Amino acid sequence: MNWEFWKQRKVLITGHTGFKGSWLSLWLQSHGVPLVGYALQPPTQPSLFDLARVGDGMVSIIGDIRDPNQLQAAFDQHQPEIVLHLAAQPIVRLSYAEPVETFQTNVMGTVNLLEAARKTDSVRAVVNVTTDKCYLNREWFWGYREDEPLGGHDPYSSSKACSELVSAAYRTSFFQPQDRVRLATARAGNVIGGGDWAQDRLVPDILQALMAHRPPEIRAPNAIRPWQHVLDPLHGYLLLAERLWTEPDLAEAWNFGPYETSAQTVGYITHYLSRGWGFDRPFEQSHGQHPHEANYLKLDSSKAHARLGWRPRFDLHATLDLIIAWYQGLQKGQDPRALTLHDIETFESIQESLT
Ligand SMILES: NC(=O)c1ccc[n+]([C@@H]2O[C@H](COP(=O)([O-])OP(=O)(O)OC[C@H]3O[C@@H](n4cnc5c(N)ncnc54)[C@H](O)[C@@H]3O)[C@@H](O)[C@H]2O)c1
Repeated sequence: MNWEFWKQRKVLITGHTGFKGSWLSLWLQSHGVPLVGYALQPPTQPSLFDLARVGDGMVSIIGDIRDPNQLQAAFDQHQPEIVLHLAAQPIVRLSYAEPVETFQTNVMGTVNLLEAARKTDSVRAVVNVTTDKCYLNREWFWGYREDEPLGGHDPYSSSKACSELVSAAYRTSFFQPQDRVRLATARAGNVIGGGDWAQDRLVPDILQALMAHRPPEIRAPNAIRPWQHVLDPLHGYLLLAERLWTEPDLAEAWNFGPYETSAQTVGYITHYLSRGWGFDRPFEQSHGQHPHEANYLKLDSSKAHARLGWRPRFDLHATLDLIIAWYQGLQKGQDPRALTLHDIETFESIQESLT
């Protein structure tokens, strides 16, 4: 990353009170980047946003992405140059309970965001963060490429595919290469790291159980999922935004997936974290009805490797070890902001060996 470039840019992050937004905000703050955040209150209690005092290092606006007027007022007042759009209702199971709110936030929220970018002369680069779940899941073994058909079985996945389609329409209608705004979308999978308290996500559920000295309860121990440290896709989003500034032909969709060896079963992850924590009782399998969740969907990130020089830096074990250390540090009373900045420094110390 060219931090001299970033220090001179005014950056607006939506969803800065969330898990990924908090990591991203702290990372940019650690390099002195002028930052504005726009989001609802932190979605969990506790939250990394509060514990790590993320709001102290930026202008933090509590606002709803579904409210176009409030969003436009934030753009008018702060005149951002780069916009990183992370605000969303991101939980599959919640999207079954609240489909209307999920579509409103994830689809009309994207429309409102792109309208604000269109109407604000300062904006030059926008990265819309969607997900690997935006692809039509054909339940096959091969990695999905950026030009595969979109789909989505559940309301969350479908809403993110819609967000991709909205972005594609804005690109062809308003944000052509000769125009001011360059808009890219970024698709990554499950991310994990310290400081996540979201409900119905495996790693937060396991860590909460371990911190409470009870065996983790898991739904599908044999389900294979790809796991990725939160910093790896964030690195991809930043590289992409930086390069969009000067390279309009990068304004398209991008995959940022983990190494193939980072796909492991839920049971494996649970064992590894429990053992690392020093907890030797086996996990418990929860029974009962669970709504449909798509099987493992693999991303083909060859394009990001070849054209951006992006590669994951943390493998699965490094990622899980960092998570154990983060939560154990928290239990010992260490400062969550310092724990998070420590992981960011570790990430930055790894050279991009293959680029
Ligand atoms: N965490 C993952 O594993 C993962 C995987 C793939 C994609 N993503 C995507 O990354 C982004 C961030 O995810 P996260 O895990 O940090 O989620 P999160 O729930 O921790 O944070 C979501 C953020 O969006 C904000 N938000 C929600 N509704 C809003 C609204 N109506 N108006 C304004 N702000 C609103 C919340 O306040 C919060 O700041 C999302 O777009 C999500 O779909 C996450």
